[in-house]
Parts: sequence; C-alpha cells; structure tokens
Amino acid sequence: MSFDALLGHFDFGDDPEDAPPFAGQAAPTVSGGRDLGQPRALHCGPVPALPAHVQDALRAEAALQLGRAARVNTHTMAEGGPVAAEVQRSDALLGFLRDQVPEGVVFEPTTSYYHWYGEATDRVEPHRDQADFFLGCILLLEHTHAGARSSRFTLHPPGGAAVEVPLEPGDAVVFFSGAVTHARSRPAPGERVNTLTFGFRLLPCGP
Ligand SMILES: [Fe+2]
Repeated sequence: MSFDALLGHFDFGDDPEDAPPFAGQAAPTVSGGRDLGQPRALHCGPVPALPAHVQDALRAEAALQLGRAARVNTHTMAEGGPVAAEVQRSDALLGFLRDQVPEGVVFEPTTSYYHWYGEATDRVEPHRDQADFFLGCILLLEHTHAGARSSRFTLHPPGGAAVEVPLEPGDAVVFFSGAVTHARSRPAPGERVNTLTFGFRLLPCGP
C-alpha cells in the first residue's frame, strides 16, 4: 500500500467526529490484552517490551521530570528524558509495535511526554494528535485513587458513544492517535494518574 493510499484512509478534516478513521479498509483488530468491544485500538494491555524493571526506571524518570513539568492546556506535562527516549527507540518496543500495525505501515519514533492528572480540572478533551504522534503508545505508569475511580481514557468512534480503554497500571494502549479521537476524563478527589506517551510518525512506504 502506498503512503498516499494509506493516508487516503484517514481524515484530516477539522471535525474529528465527521469521518470513520479507517473508512475503506478493514479496521485493525485488538491483537492483545483486553477486547475493547470496538476495533479502535491496535493493542490494549501489558506490553512484553515494557517489563516491570523498565517501567520502574520510567517512573523514576517521571518523578525527576515532574520538577520541570509545566501546566499545558488542561493538565501537567513534561517531555520524556533519556530513559524514555531509549525505551522508545528500543528494538523490543519497535518490534512489538510493528507487529500491531497493519501490513505496509512504516513509522519512526518522534518524541515522548509524561502526563500527570491530579487536580479537579485536569483532563484531555476529545482530540486527535498531530503527525508526529500519528501512531501513539500510551503507557499507564500510575493510577491511584482514594475512593471512586473517575479518570478514564476513552476512544470516540464517529457518531458513537465513547469507549473506555480499560487500562491497569503497567498496561499500554496502542492506536492511531492521529486518526482516532481520544480523551481522558477528570480525576476524583484523591485520584492521581501518570502516563507516558510515545509518539511515532508514519513514513512513506513502497507501492
Ligand atoms: Fe492525544
């Protein structure tokens, strides 16, 4: 499949709700972890390329980066450090992601960001990402709550109800974040969420 043909399947319009993200081709199916009920994510669940000791190193880096974090839009963010960069470019993670995307899709790593949600107004409104994050891998590093769990990561099929992605700490969701509208809802009092997002841009591929 050519790059142009591939992009032809995606909608870059202003209205994120107006076009099916995979119109004209078979939608990717959930290939591991839990079934989302709708085929909008490529993977949801544990990722062998992100074992516990790697996640411990990423949590430690997140704690460091929090000191440099800034309020961006509706929550707190900081760019990934050298640990995140190394993990993002590891053969293990890239190989895993290659196994998740449809045949013919070629991509390269771009940037990563740590995100924190803990204030009552923290959230991410439904949106789609830019080209540098057209393929996204979101790792849930931490999710603690004193009472009810309120903050949820959701995908938003065009014209349909939001679908919660059931992530536990240590799980990751892989999806075309430039094509599939996604969001995170507000935490309850005492609830805290820390995620790490890895971004990948699509590259031209052969005919
Ligand atoms: Fe996003």
